[in-house]
Amino acid sequence: FSLKNYNTFGIEAKAKSFVEATNTDELAQILKEHKNEKLFILGGGSNMLLTKDIDALVVHINLKGKKVLKEDDDFVWVQGNAGENWHEFVLWNLEQNFGGIENMSLIPGNVGTTPIQNIGAYGAEIKDTMVSCEAMRIDTQEIHTFTNEECQFGYRESIFKNEAKDQYVITSVVYKLTKKNHKINTSYGAIDGELAKHNITNPSIKDVSNAVIAIRQSKLPDPKELGNSGSFFKNPIVAKELYEKAHAEHADMPHYTVGENEVKVPAGWLIEQAGFKGKRFGDAGVHKLQALVLVNYGNATGQEIFNLSKEIQRTVLEKFGIPIEAEVNII
Ligand code: EPU
Repeated sequence: FSLKNYNTFGIEAKAKSFVEATNTDELAQILKEHKNEKLFILGGGSNMLLTKDIDALVVHINLKGKKVLKEDDDFVWVQGNAGENWHEFVLWNLEQNFGGIENMSLIPGNVGTTPIQNIGAYGAEIKDTMVSCEAMRIDTQEIHTFTNEECQFGYRESIFKNEAKDQYVITSVVYKLTKKNHKINTSYGAIDGELAKHNITNPSIKDVSNAVIAIRQSKLPDPKELGNSGSFFKNPIVAKELYEKAHAEHADMPHYTVGENEVKVPAGWLIEQAGFKGKRFGDAGVHKLQALVLVNYGNATGQEIFNLSKEIQRTVLEKFGIPIEAEVNII
């Protein structure tokens, strides 16, 4: 079974077998029936790089549905099932004037994967609005509810990438959104710039969403046109001493302070300075407008993209002394 249409990198890889779960009963049934087989849980396929065929039963999580669970005068609790497309979910909430996730418009992937890496963009992260998520234990098929706190969120981190890794399938997520007095967040400079272009001084949540969409479309490739997985690397958070050493040699290095002893450096800048922006090696490349994004020009293999990522990591480490880590799951 070809997985080419099930990963946004558009990598040709084969699965031993493939099955789809469209509701939680089906999912429980599949997990039970194939208890002793190797399983591979697949959501939106937007944050992984397949470097080889999958010698397992691929279980595609395609649980659809979204609803308002409860509301009060100010807030609404909205539940989305894991297989809902994230951006469509954001737009559905915007149509009803529910706010809090508009800065994360147009992020590829599904609702169910948003907690795994605490997706974030333009000054917002999922952990700011997520109340809880339900997840099915793979071994017992029991549903467990994880509160926001139990998810142990960090920058592109959660329990699902650590202790709970490979033990659960997230089946639905609840977000607490605003019905009025929306917290408009334009702290990210580019949003202000985009709003100013349209002379918008008092933006609505829809305006913010439109601005984010415009910014993303101007520099991030659409996976439907050019295979990619968004940011391939995390922005490294480095000890102050290491940063100061690198900064002494590269005075124009951008940086953001994170707590007292740590500094975050944009990996896109490091990769661009290392000379990789816009470079192409066969069908594997570094995007010309955003160096943090690796792209598949058509027929790159996962291994070719992986090799390019290793070459980038090596060069950046050599030039700046700063290690950068993949954000994407390497399979
Ligand atoms: N930069 C460069 N060259 C590049 C790219 C970036 O010099 O090719 C510099 C920019 O000039 C700027 C800094 O790096 O000073 C930050 O760039 P940008 O605002 O584009 O954001 P980013 O740090 O590269 C992160 C997220 C994105 C998210 C944006 C906006 C990570 C790993 N990535 O990128 O998330 O959309 O901020 O909030 O944190 C994703 O995860 O898939 C993703 C696209």
